[in-house]
Amino acid sequence: MTIFSFFIAYLLGSIPFALIVGKVFFGADIRYYGSGNLGASNSIRILGKKAGLLVLIGDVSKGVIAASLPLWLNLDIDPLYIGFAAVFGHCFPIFAGFRGGKAVATTVGVLLISSSPLLVIGLATFLGAIVITKYVAVGSILIAPNLFLYSLITGNTEYTILFLIFIPFMLYLHRSNLRNIKNGTEPKINDKNIKKD
Ligand code: G3P
Repeated sequence: MTIFSFFIAYLLGSIPFALIVGKVFFGADIRYYGSGNLGASNSIRILGKKAGLLVLIGDVSKGVIAASLPLWLNLDIDPLYIGFAAVFGHCFPIFAGFRGGKAVATTVGVLLISSSPLLVIGLATFLGAIVITKYVAVGSILIAPNLFLYSLITGNTEYTILFLIFIPFMLYLHRSNLRNIKNGTEPKINDKNIKKD
């Protein structure tokens, strides 16, 4: 049952809300626009705030539902672990050619259910870094090391290992953003003009 739940969480995470919203309401595949990312930030950029909000709600919900599976199915497993199967599905979705989003919204959904302190640290890091740098990607990337540091300080070895793995995972997902920041072509949150990767 536990393995099955991981599989269900992965499938759930694989639902590409950005692709669905883009195609259904605008007839557009947003993988060909903006950063090409199937996530809320690229949806806001390309489809607008309302559609982006819809994508955000969908992507957060995937994490919430996946992390709730242990409770609903009475499984003796940490919601964070099952939740991360959904995060993996969100980033490498079987329903969208394994090219998905960059983890943030679904991770927030998982943390909403599994850990309030981690949620607060994750959100504070994300928003704080965006306010300072104006780059959404920088906010996203910095979530992982801060969750790692918190887990290390609080002595949670399992979480420390999980978030240690999360750091290169996020760096890999954001490799094009890092390249763009270096080249000066990464859009800032207050930019009006969109550049293709
Ligand atoms: O949350 C996604 C963000 O980190 C990067 O998205 O579309 O700017 O590449 P994007």
